[in-house]
Amino acid sequence: MNTDAVLAVPTDADRAPSTAPSPLLDPYHGPALRLPNRVAMAPMTRSRADDATGVPTAMMAEYYTQRAAAGLIVSEGIWPHRLGKGGPGVPGLTDAAQVEGWRRVTGAVHGAGGRIFAQLWHVGRVSHPDLLDGERPVAPSAVAVAHGVIHTAAGPKDYVRPRRMLPGEVVETIEAHAAAARNAVDAGFDGVEINAAYGYLPAQFLSDSANLRTDAYADRIRFVVDLVEAVAAAIGPGRTALRISPDNRLHDIVEADPARRYHRLAAALDRMGLAYLHVVQSGEYPALEDLRPRWRGMLVGSYDGPEPGDREQAERALRSGLADVYAFGRLFLANPDLPQRIATDAKLATPRASGLYGGGAEGYLDYPALTVG
Ligand SMILES: Cc1cc2nc3c(=O)[nH]c(=O)nc-3n(C[C@H](O)[C@H](O)[C@H](O)COP(=O)(O)O)c2cc1C
Repeated sequence: MNTDAVLAVPTDADRAPSTAPSPLLDPYHGPALRLPNRVAMAPMTRSRADDATGVPTAMMAEYYTQRAAAGLIVSEGIWPHRLGKGGPGVPGLTDAAQVEGWRRVTGAVHGAGGRIFAQLWHVGRVSHPDLLDGERPVAPSAVAVAHGVIHTAAGPKDYVRPRRMLPGEVVETIEAHAAAARNAVDAGFDGVEINAAYGYLPAQFLSDSANLRTDAYADRIRFVVDLVEAVAAAIGPGRTALRISPDNRLHDIVEADPARRYHRLAAALDRMGLAYLHVVQSGEYPALEDLRPRWRGMLVGSYDGPEPGDREQAERALRSGLADVYAFGRLFLANPDLPQRIATDAKLATPRASGLYGGGAEGYLDYPALTVG
């Protein structure tokens, strides 16, 4: 017996692959989607599109292709309407040039064996005239975000008071989402995820603090239900998904009774046969535990806290049935080959603060995959 070998402390480099199978590596076969594993890449804004046109750049195709081993990639937030843009370098899906740019991204991801949904992201009041060619941002009601600043090309600025959307504009905005969803499919995306999380336009309609309307949209779930129905009618329910973050307080959002509101929303959408519901657990309300029994389709889970969501948390959510698939944000950003690292129990890199939003390849394309061999 070689005692040296027995006593040697294993290093990360020579640690043997884990023998305990991870549920994250099991395939997922649902009615709408078939995924080779349950490690999704969460949507992350990286602000590298051409700012003047909203057209995706070649760098973006490379970034997503590096992460094509994900069971499912959810793209960064993309504006579906010219008034939906929330930052410099955020891409759009409203015209032919943007569609053409995205086609290069989806083609490269598919060529590498991946699947990619487009996240439709209308920010509503979380914008600024500097980002909207001088126009005032729109919102359910004329209530400004009071805390924090908005990042523009000229630096951080205070939020402005948004303009209340007229009833006709609400309808036009919903139609713009349906048109952007058609553009997404035309551009080769496998589907779209509507961003109703984190205090942006749909979450503003869901809230008590930003939605003071007295018309039909005073019913706080109405806008999101209309939006999902319009997108599902445009591209099919099996290509339509929704992301929510119940009880998340970002951007001054207050939801007085999240359980009641999200029960109603789940009941309204559950029978539609959507691709998936994506639930971000971040507030005091235990959204995943409470909504899982109310959602019979595919459920993607994410935890959002000060530390990046980790493997153990994700595996617990999958083993307990709280989620079918888990979406990693920061860890996927820093580990382009995250599923392989989970499979081999390899050390995980942590994201650097520089290069998160905007800039070039640094902090974007330079997170290496593990070299095999
Ligand atoms: C750089 C960055 C950009 C993000 N952009 C978006 C976005 O465009 N849309 C969205 O729904 N969430 C966005 N998020 C939130 C993530 O999708 C995710 O919910 C959050 O980071 C928590 O997951 P994690 O702990 O795995 O990072 C972003 C997060 C980061 C770190």
